[in-house]
Amino acid sequence: MGKEIASFIVNGNEYDVIIEPHMLLIDVLRDKLGFTGTKYACGAGDCGSCTVLIDGKPSFSCLTLAVTAKGKNILTIEGMADGTTLHPIQQAFVASGAVQCGFCTPGMVLSAKALLDDNPEPTRDEVKTALAGNLCRCTGYVKIVDAVEASADTMRKGG
Ligand code: FES
Ligand code: FES
Repeated sequence: MGKEIASFIVNGNEYDVIIEPHMLLIDVLRDKLGFTGTKYACGAGDCGSCTVLIDGKPSFSCLTLAVTAKGKNILTIEGMADGTTLHPIQQAFVASGAVQCGFCTPGMVLSAKALLDDNPEPTRDEVKTALAGNLCRCTGYVKIVDAVEASADTMRKGG
């Protein structure tokens, strides 16, 4: 099997990309499509920096063969804001001081979105479990978990 033209639906838009069988989704997103908000760190499924949502499910794009994501709905951090208005989860990360170097933040925000889409009123432990695959080297996790709880609150109130 060689090169093929594959369609990817990223943040609601469809893109046709020439891919090869060994290509990883993160390389398609970053190098072919320019969605550089998806971060590459460990490349081994250990850190969660490369997390995107595939059909709503958090997935490590560094371990995902691009070919398996053809035609699926992929959400990257670039798809979270509404124009210039940040998503409530992003706003809460900023307001809670949960962003330092920011490297882990896109993956954290996307994992949080998947959680809150599924469970709008999670316990603190459920938030921690949902973020367990996302490592932060900077802040520790208190402010990050605070931010997810605050955004859940805002979204339940219709914010
Ligand atoms: S870069 Fe994918 S899990 Fe670390
Ligand atoms: S803010 Fe730096 S790794 Fe999390």
